Amino acid sequence: MKIGIDRLTFATTELYLDLRDLAAARHVDPDKYLMGIGQSQQAVIPPTQDAVTLAAQAAAKIPAAELAQVSTVIVATESGVDNSKAAALYVKQLLGLSDFVRTIELKEACYSATAGLQFAKGLVALHPTEKILVIASDIARYGLQTGGEVTQGGGAVAMVVAKDPRVLELESTSVAFSQDVMDFWRPLYRSEALVDGKYSTQVYIDFFQACWQRYQQLTGATLDDFAGFLFHLPFTKMGKKALASELGDRDDQVAQRFWAVLQASQVYSRRVGNLYTGSLYLSLLSALNHGQLQAGNRLGLFSYGSGAEGEFLTGRLVDGFAAALERPDAMLDQRRQVSVAEYETLFNQHLGLQSQDCTFDLSDSQAPFVLAGQQNHQRQYQRRG
Ligand code: CAA
Repeated sequence: MKIGIDRLTFATTELYLDLRDLAAARHVDPDKYLMGIGQSQQAVIPPTQDAVTLAAQAAAKIPAAELAQVSTVIVATESGVDNSKAAALYVKQLLGLSDFVRTIELKEACYSATAGLQFAKGLVALHPTEKILVIASDIARYGLQTGGEVTQGGGAVAMVVAKDPRVLELESTSVAFSQDVMDFWRPLYRSEALVDGKYSTQVYIDFFQACWQRYQQLTGATLDDFAGFLFHLPFTKMGKKALASELGDRDDQVAQRFWAVLQASQVYSRRVGNLYTGSLYLSLLSALNHGQLQAGNRLGLFSYGSGAEGEFLTGRLVDGFAAALERPDAMLDQRRQVSVAEYETLFNQHLGLQSQDCTFDLSDSQAPFVLAGQQNHQRQYQRRG
């Protein structure tokens, strides 16, 4: 049975920060951010948006008739809003799905959406008529004036997993690799991540190499068997570092093909920053919308979550894949640019994660799903329009 990604949509906030402005405010050469890190803009998150509202916004772009066939909602996030209740429950409610739906939240840093895909694949293999909604939704938050600040961002990617998929047929062999490593983590009492930045980039590359080398041993495949690789992109330079660890200074046709796919995969991440769980799948959407890929092309996907876990999985593009994709370019163009001062004010509102009751001013927001406030420690979500 062919099982894979049947639909792919993306949502982010209405606000962004130009990283030239951030560079000026932090007294850094803008080329460090634009070229050294490889980011030009960053999604800014108002307190009325969180992992739940962004997840709902991405999933609501899936046609209602397809959502109505969903049997399980999996929300992968490391920006959870509750230590007990699954974000998927709020999302299911906001989407108006049937109560006869299974809901669960998954966590392992930026990796967990890939686990979600694998679980979804297993469910479809057992129940071929079911469609599984896997949503990767996160807010990357390191803190003002930290080394990681330039790699913040946020948004969500929603995927429907089904048999006879219209986008990417997932192949059966994949390699997962995990070790207890402290490269990036966020204790329960913190709303900002702690990170050993340089170490984290090295662990990422080591895990990519461990997975890819094992995959080659298991399958006999080589780079020649792929159109290109897609990477988790905490910042776009990370993909370049990972690919360079494999290609070295190779400049033949295969290497050029891989570099072209990587470049196409970086377009959206460069403009929204790190989505944590969603970043790999945003790279996929970007490569499919901006690259020269064709039906039948085989892609390798490297998923990485700090802590740390990696997985190399593969898939083949399906005939007509473009019809089941969102094209978010115009949506990104329409966002409102904020100043560094406004970004800092919004950042300090802590994503609405506070213990007091509150009501947010929604007059500036056109977002389809919002966190309107909190009453009796209960988050008040609204669907608008
Ligand atoms: N012009 C052009 N390039 C410049 C420059 C200039 N004026 N000044 C500096 N650069 C280059 C540097 O040469 C360097 O390039 P290379 O990495 O290719 O050597 C690059 O800009 C970054 O500069 P620094 O080495 O000085 O880096 P930094 O100390 O500012 O830290 C960072 C960068 C480690 C990525 C930091 O932003 C960070 O900690 N980010 C968060 C952690 C992260 O994203 N880790 C990724 C792996 S972990 C993961 O993937 C999970 C996840 O999502 C978090």
